[in-house]
Amino acid sequence: MAEQAAAGIAGAWAEIAALAGEAGAGAIRPLFAADSKRFARFSRRADGLLLDLSKTSLNDRRLGALIGLARAVGLAARRDAMAAGETINTTEGRAVLHMALRGEGGFRTGEEDVSAEVAAVLGRMRDFCAAVHDGTTLGATGERFTDVLNIGIGGSDLGPAMVARALWTPAAPMRAHYLANVDAHAWEALRPNLDPARTLVLVASKTFTTQETMTNAALVRDWLRGTLGEGAAGHFAALSTNLKATAAFGIAPERVFPFRDWVGGRFSLWSAIGLSLGLALGWEEFSKLLSGARAMDGHFLAAPLEENLPVLLALAEIWHVNGLGYPSRAVLPYDERLARLPAHLQQLEMESLGKRVTLAGTLAAHSTGAVVFGEPGTNAQHSFMQLIHQGTTPVPCDIILVAKPDHKHADSHRKLLANGLAQAEALMRGKPASEVRAEMAAAGVAEAEIARLLPHRVFPGDRPSAAILLPHLDAFTLGQLVALYEHKVFCLGALWGINAFDQWGVELGKQLAGAILPELEAGAAKPGAHDGSTEGLLRELLGSAG
Ligand code: F6P
Repeated sequence: MAEQAAAGIAGAWAEIAALAGEAGAGAIRPLFAADSKRFARFSRRADGLLLDLSKTSLNDRRLGALIGLARAVGLAARRDAMAAGETINTTEGRAVLHMALRGEGGFRTGEEDVSAEVAAVLGRMRDFCAAVHDGTTLGATGERFTDVLNIGIGGSDLGPAMVARALWTPAAPMRAHYLANVDAHAWEALRPNLDPARTLVLVASKTFTTQETMTNAALVRDWLRGTLGEGAAGHFAALSTNLKATAAFGIAPERVFPFRDWVGGRFSLWSAIGLSLGLALGWEEFSKLLSGARAMDGHFLAAPLEENLPVLLALAEIWHVNGLGYPSRAVLPYDERLARLPAHLQQLEMESLGKRVTLAGTLAAHSTGAVVFGEPGTNAQHSFMQLIHQGTTPVPCDIILVAKPDHKHADSHRKLLANGLAQAEALMRGKPASEVRAEMAAAGVAEAEIARLLPHRVFPGDRPSAAILLPHLDAFTLGQLVALYEHKVFCLGALWGINAFDQWGVELGKQLAGAILPELEAGAAKPGAHDGSTEGLLRELLGSAG
């Protein structure tokens, strides 16, 4: 049985490789030339969100082979096992149930009713937000809390910070601030904006042991104590799975909002880790974010593979990474409010998929996780897009467009959309030598000069992009969008046969930092403890700090 499955998977990979090896497999222009209905045939919708994959070189045969891989790896059964609370994170012995955080109920792990616990914590979060907003819960000096400071890093920072950046408006109930880096310049930059009497501090850490977060929490506690004395304790709440450590830090149990180890850090913005959003944006907005994600969950769980947006997005990535050998991807939100989405996706995708060992413990036979980077459009156009248009290796792009803005500057918005559409068109269409030549000749450029400049001015084209179109950016559509990427990550884990839910790769650096710190504290490098470079740099730093 297992052998049969392995043979099926190997066969599917071989078919993809064969199709990708055909001449012109990466060409996109001829596909449009041959099919006037290509946009309609390679676009899909889920609850108003549109995914257009027509500007990739997917065609029926290629998509068929990719769907064949999805079937061979048992993608649908794996998805259902995740939803059923099975221990699919096998290297950490955990279920993966972030869907339960936005579900309407019915999620379990074994005998445990996970949804009941989720509802109870959400209820406590909602009541806490209401008490802060209506002034029932006040600061130590009797003032209302106007600012919430979330101290956390990685998944305990990026998701909420990205959403707050996207959805906060001056009409929101509180201001939100995010402190992540152990570099105290970050704290020093934030501090002047905060009044201790009106600042509520959330210490957000799944483990409550993360060095950066605990260091920053201690700094901020000292700052609060400097003005408020013992009253500082009333300015803290904790978001964590480690209830012993939150108690040891001195946070009262009623101020601890727990979640469970079946939520991965990078999937945790829907859990208690999202409390800063309930406070800063209002509970209704946080609830809408959950509903948007829930809508995408419903689609992911029910839609056939061929219609399933996360599945299709993942299959396009398999085609690009494994078929065509494009190892990276750019995320280009044409909406300034999504400025932190690329950073969130960097963690979500690269921490999940940056694995070279399969679930079976063998070396992966195929390349895995793409390098993800991005910036909002149009800024990206004046930065790294040169490489994407004319560099040696194509970089597939996700171009995220929002139809309706929340400002009244229609001209600016039209220019923004024109640029987003134009980038995707330029990437695909390119500019052949004939066109460049004709343009230069018409401008009166001398033949010798045309010959000299021509190769520099040609755009190769056939560079793929996926367009994601949101009717409007709001809590619901942002929830859909983030859940779309989360499920895409799950699918890629299944397709590559790796565990998308652990992150052992972050541990070694933490351990080594733990060994170097005492040397910095002592002001002396331990001879022979490191390689020559590390020891040399350490001595330089100690000398310069001297
Ligand atoms: O070091 C990586 C990591 O464990 C991430 O996976 C996680 O999101 C981040 O650190 C923060 O961890 P915690 O929430 O436990 O402080």
